[in-house]
Amino acid sequence: MRSSTSRAAALLVVASCGALAPPVRPGAPAGALWARVPGASAAEYAAVYGPRDCASPAGDGMDERIFALNEGLVGATKGAIDALYEGRDFARFYVLETLARVPYFAYLSVMHLRETFGDRRPGDSERMRTHYAEADNELHHLLIMESLGGNSSAVDRTLAQSMAFFYFWYVTVVYSFSEPAAYHLSELIEDHAFNTYDDFIKDHGPKLKGMPVPDIARKYYERDDPYLRDQFLTVKETDGGFTSRSRPPLESLYDVFVNIRDDEKEHWKTLCNLVQFDDLGGDAAGAPEPTRPCVVVGDECFIEGEDECAAEPVLVASR
Ligand SMILES: *[C@@H]1O[C@H](CO)[C@@H](O)[C@H](O)[C@H]1NC(C)=O
Ligand SMILES: [Fe+2]
Ligand SMILES: [Fe+2]
Repeated sequence: MRSSTSRAAALLVVASCGALAPPVRPGAPAGALWARVPGASAAEYAAVYGPRDCASPAGDGMDERIFALNEGLVGATKGAIDALYEGRDFARFYVLETLARVPYFAYLSVMHLRETFGDRRPGDSERMRTHYAEADNELHHLLIMESLGGNSSAVDRTLAQSMAFFYFWYVTVVYSFSEPAAYHLSELIEDHAFNTYDDFIKDHGPKLKGMPVPDIARKYYERDDPYLRDQFLTVKETDGGFTSRSRPPLESLYDVFVNIRDDEKEHWKTLCNLVQFDDLGGDAAGAPEPTRPCVVVGDECFIEGEDECAAEPVLVASR
């Protein structure tokens, strides 16, 4: 099955697009991939963009056309919101967090409907709990942004709520037809969310360290039963621990944003596994990697074969 001429030609297309290179932070020196997570430890970086763990099986890729569509949608929407809200960070985060909950509600709606019609697959109730825990987590990010005044403008509220309405139906339709396509859209969004908060923490660290912790953040991260928060920690770190259980105590608003950023990373990890392995925890042996585009040939999809674990280039068969 490997290396038929048409497949080889198709793979060249992907390779020549450079689509497989991890994105580099603008302004970083060429090749400085670490700059994507400035200030992160080597282990933290490796958890997001590190080399593949060769003991673990490669996950499924995403049809390059859907990959490009999702990337275009996320890039355009994020670009528009960033431009519109320049200099108004809490309002921007309010809009983003209003949208962030929507896909989890959409997955739950479709799963609930299927469950009602008797379509009960093993693991579905666990997955529904996780999606609810993620929606609840995003709700608390939203409540924190509201407590910081992010919801003060009626224009912002109208924009956020209108977008949320259409986004819900979009994700519901996509999820009904293709779960990986819907999960992949969110994988890209959660990656942006992580980087958005990471940049914010880096740019405003001293100011945030002088600001108080909102009461809603104390309630959610300190006083509430940790059951729901633990429910969305589906991916073990390579050292076997869960990052969110060792979160910093809340001394200032800075720590609140560290927690929010780390939540986004957990969402991203879970989504990578759902796209690539159709499983919340994915492959327990290694940290998740970003989903890669693949080229559809017939009824198979091939990830470009530049696999650092193989002695020679291979084609990776996929869903
Ligand atoms: C803004 O958010 C706060 C805190 O959640 C809430 O009490 C208030 O009613 C909201 N304001 C509007 C106009 O929605
Ligand atoms: Fe969030
Ligand atoms: Fe998120």
